[in-house]
Amino acid sequence: MEKWKAAVVGGGVGGQLSMNALNNSELFELVAVADLRPDVCEQLKRKFPGIKTYANHRDMFEDCRMDVVCVSTFPPSHEEVTLDALKHPIKGILVEKPLGHTAESGRRILEEIKKRNLPMAVPHGLLAKKTPLEIIERVRGGEIGELKLVEIQNAKWDIINAGIHWLHFFVTLTGNEPMDYVMGICEASTRTYRDGMQVETTAVTYGQTKSGIRVVMNTGDEVLVNREGKETLFRLIGTAGQIEFWGWENGYTLQNAAYPLGELIVPDELPVTGHRAHLERMAGMIESGVSDYTIPESSLLALEIVEGAYLSSKHGCKVHFPVDGFEAPAKTDWEPGQPYAGTGGGRDGRKL
Ligand SMILES: NC(=O)c1ccc[n+]([C@@H]2O[C@H](COP(=O)([O-])OP(=O)(O)OC[C@H]3O[C@@H](n4cnc5c(N)ncnc54)[C@H](O)[C@@H]3O)[C@@H](O)[C@H]2O)c1
Repeated sequence: MEKWKAAVVGGGVGGQLSMNALNNSELFELVAVADLRPDVCEQLKRKFPGIKTYANHRDMFEDCRMDVVCVSTFPPSHEEVTLDALKHPIKGILVEKPLGHTAESGRRILEEIKKRNLPMAVPHGLLAKKTPLEIIERVRGGEIGELKLVEIQNAKWDIINAGIHWLHFFVTLTGNEPMDYVMGICEASTRTYRDGMQVETTAVTYGQTKSGIRVVMNTGDEVLVNREGKETLFRLIGTAGQIEFWGWENGYTLQNAAYPLGELIVPDELPVTGHRAHLERMAGMIESGVSDYTIPESSLLALEIVEGAYLSSKHGCKVHFPVDGFEAPAKTDWEPGQPYAGTGGGRDGRKL
């Protein structure tokens, strides 16, 4: 069978996850890579002999015949690179998470791809791993009753880069239920940047779906994860039980009527995981002609939560969905926690 020819834009960590996946898959052939940095191109030529490399993605798109493009640059350039790729007759596209640096940019990317009915992958690794997939199945199957709260703790990372994977998992757990609002607080004392973005030193993100399912996520350099030895933790609380798991780690504990004291369950990993699983799923869509946008859509909703949390922190307000319609409220002189002078108007909060 002829393999789908694939090219990758951005040769860093994310790009190399795609390159390794393409290289290991029977369905694809990695033919070209574009990266701004000549040293990265040189290194990739040694790693993947036979590929062509380019300093600019447009030159690569003009010069090379390819079926599939992977957009693996930093989020602020995803839109430009994707729209340039769409000018060529490609059959499928992978766009790294977060889809864009804003929900608006992510939405434009998704709309342009959907308009063309082009198969798309957004490689959220948790949706290509046995543990999280089995957890989704148990929660949807009612094994912890009705899902009410998802608590996430993640040390050393931030809302937009790793947090988007965790929030995407939350969105998927709820079956892409529409969000009502998000509130967030970020402190930036260490002036940390990561993956082309300014990020928080510590943050709390709080969100609520329309039916009231909550997500509470604590991210940042010094977050204390309250289970020894773990750097990421999820606690899923339902009306009839709870599940705890640890991000990329295989295994989870389930506590419910069947396991009142909690049971550690470690399933066998899937034969194909990560970027390769997402790319091969996309190859299936190319073959069938049927594009499924469930993951890109949940990724966009997760990006809205991300942006909403940052906007909420910046403006000190609640951010309702859709987040790309957000307008900052007028500044207020009302300071919760300060004594009320008895004058100056306001609402009597004892009149409930
Ligand atoms: N899905 C995942 O599990 C996963 C894991 C890691 C990174 N990522 C994502 O991959 C993307 C890139 O992050 P990274 O960790 O690879 O960063 P990185 O710093 O490791 O690499 C980025 C590379 O892109 C190149 N680049 C930047 N702009 C470019 C452009 N316009 N054209 C060509 N090359 C360009 C840079 O020179 C650099 O080599 C981000 O969106 C990130 O969130 C996803």
